[in-house]
Amino acid sequence: MGFLIFNAISILLVVLFTNSNADFNQYYYPLWGLNHLTVDPQGTEVQLLMDTSSGAGFRSKWEYGSGLFHIRMKIPERKTGGIVTSFYLTSAPDYQNPGNHFELDFEFLGTNGTVQTNVYDNDGGHREQSFKLWFNPSQDFHTYGILWNPHHIVFYVDEIPIREFNNKTVRGVDYPSMPMHIEASIWNANWAGVVDWSQAPFIAHYQDFNFYACPARRNTVSLCSSVKYFWNKQTELNAVQKRLMQQYRKLYMSYDYCSKGATRKPDDCIA
Ligand SMILES: *[C@@H]1O[C@H](CO)[C@@H](O)[C@H](O)[C@H]1NC(C)=O
Ligand SMILES: *[C@@H]1O[C@H](CO)[C@@H](O)[C@H](O)[C@H]1NC(C)=O
Repeated sequence: MGFLIFNAISILLVVLFTNSNADFNQYYYPLWGLNHLTVDPQGTEVQLLMDTSSGAGFRSKWEYGSGLFHIRMKIPERKTGGIVTSFYLTSAPDYQNPGNHFELDFEFLGTNGTVQTNVYDNDGGHREQSFKLWFNPSQDFHTYGILWNPHHIVFYVDEIPIREFNNKTVRGVDYPSMPMHIEASIWNANWAGVVDWSQAPFIAHYQDFNFYACPARRNTVSLCSSVKYFWNKQTELNAVQKRLMQQYRKLYMSYDYCSKGATRKPDDCIA
């Protein structure tokens, strides 16, 4: 079985994310906490620092209507709760109360290795699924990816699909239809635990800034569903990916909003 999984992963590796030395400045710009954000001279690595005075964040230059997004990330080494290290897509405008919006999140809750994924579907979210990862995310860089096309949204960790959110608009479930941009940030949130400030500063590292996506404005999102974009061709996970996803969810998922005791599962939980 181990051999099978290994083979499957090496096949996927070729297909999905290839590391690059893409320049941060070509794809992103600093958004907040500017004196807590450092870009190395080649633009190939960014550090976000969190201390008692501030965290920091950056965002993509453009808004997009579909894409295969990814980044390499290493979360802070020092042990604490309460510090959120993130990589996500959002349709919320900068510096505004987001209100109802679309958002697809990777959020590390503290530095104990638990990552939470969430889907805001033009509403308040609360579609949390958390994973206790099979590696120490503060030790090395790992790739966090989000595919968003007209058929489905897939969250990947190092090529392993860990979560799929299907377009079920035919069943009345909303689906992202507004331009979204990427953000990455470090900040503190009391819902993610208690911060041990004696361990500060907390430093997150990011690399690998290129991604594939279709730039869009509000009235041009539909143009981004064209199959001339390779990431729109995948209408569902293949058999290998489905099996991997099942295995990894069974082994590593630590919280699932779909099974938190509701008598009737939300529509978006039904396969
Ligand atoms: C969702 O799928 C439907 C077909 O079932 C399609 O018409 C629609 O454009 C898709 N929505 C988005 C936002 O891609
Ligand atoms: C890690 O921290 C999160 C947030 O505080 C908590 O929900 C989770 O149970 C912790 N996991 C472990 C394995 O300690």
